[in-house]
Amino acid sequence: MAGNKNLQAANKAKKDEFYTQLCDIENELRHYREHFRDKTVLCNCDDPRVSNFFHYFAYNFEQLGLKRLITTCYKNQNADLFSRNDQEQAIWLEYLGDRNGNRVPDAEEIGIRPLKGDGDFRSPECIELLKQADIVVTNPPFSLFREYVAQLVKYEKKFLIIGNQNAITYKEIFPLIVQNKMWLGYGFKGGAGHFISKYEDVATAGDHRAGMIRVSGVTWFTNLEIEKRHEELILYKKYTPEEYPKYDNYDAINVKETVCIPCDYEGTMGVPITFLNKYNPEQFEIIGCTESEGKGFSNGVWNASSKVSQPLLHGERKYKRLFIKRIKP
Ligand SMILES: C[S@@+](CC[C@H](N)C(=O)[O-])C[C@H]1O[C@@H](n2cnc3c(N)ncnc32)[C@H](O)[C@@H]1O
Repeated sequence: MAGNKNLQAANKAKKDEFYTQLCDIENELRHYREHFRDKTVLCNCDDPRVSNFFHYFAYNFEQLGLKRLITTCYKNQNADLFSRNDQEQAIWLEYLGDRNGNRVPDAEEIGIRPLKGDGDFRSPECIELLKQADIVVTNPPFSLFREYVAQLVKYEKKFLIIGNQNAITYKEIFPLIVQNKMWLGYGFKGGAGHFISKYEDVATAGDHRAGMIRVSGVTWFTNLEIEKRHEELILYKKYTPEEYPKYDNYDAINVKETVCIPCDYEGTMGVPITFLNKYNPEQFEIIGCTESEGKGFSNGVWNASSKVSQPLLHGERKYKRLFIKRIKP
């Protein structure tokens, strides 16, 4: 929880300078290898001199069969990991693969070019580079996550990006999840990651790592097909009205944990948001979520006359829920 508070504080102060470890990129990317053959990859929130995203794609360029790697850097031109964003001009970089046969990206093989502006992913010149990309992979600034995703959707790009799990119920993001235009990747172990950062780490001693900040509630968001999304969740529990009471104000039963979803209930069920980690669109349909996340989000499951948007069980307020239904085989 401490990590989560840390992240919320970072979001508020627009402290976006925390950097992804190579091991976390490798852990996730190993599930997507087939998507990259002959593709142009863009990392557009990445100082190529320090970004592990650039490092991963440059060093795996041949193994992945990439066509082109483009990286853009925001503002800072100094090769300092902890970008102070105090230089208005940024750079972009292009790598077309190994030319001299040593299978390593050498400095003379990497084309470094100045950008006219500050490298903001929303600037026209960065959008031009976005148009040339097939897949965008990065950890974007969390404070601009909504805008960042909106732009990817507008330009119909494939993507694999890191974000805060809370983004699931943002009003700009949730509809994309319901419409199966975006889903969760494999994620971080225990839903938390360590990022390279100078920000003060408030993680407990056991979780503290030097030079890092522990961030809980981080995950990968993608629209690339992955096997996980087609794995069936094994359901073993039987429905009883006692174990699965109906909410007072939503026309759905309450399911405490994803593993407890009953195998024989055909109506609407309220499940924790973490269900999305197990979501298989061939097995379940997402109907909506609690109105506390946004007006109209429950898609008619809410009884508006209750005037309470949080789910109520015997008068007691419960935590936010997703509403799902099983798809009949
Ligand atoms: C969470 S950090 C991650 C950095 C890098 N992608 C990584 O994973 O190591 C987000 C980065 O986005 C940059 N950034 C902030 N605002 C930006 C913008 N408007 N356009 C492009 N990059 C931006 C920040 O400077 C920061 O380095």
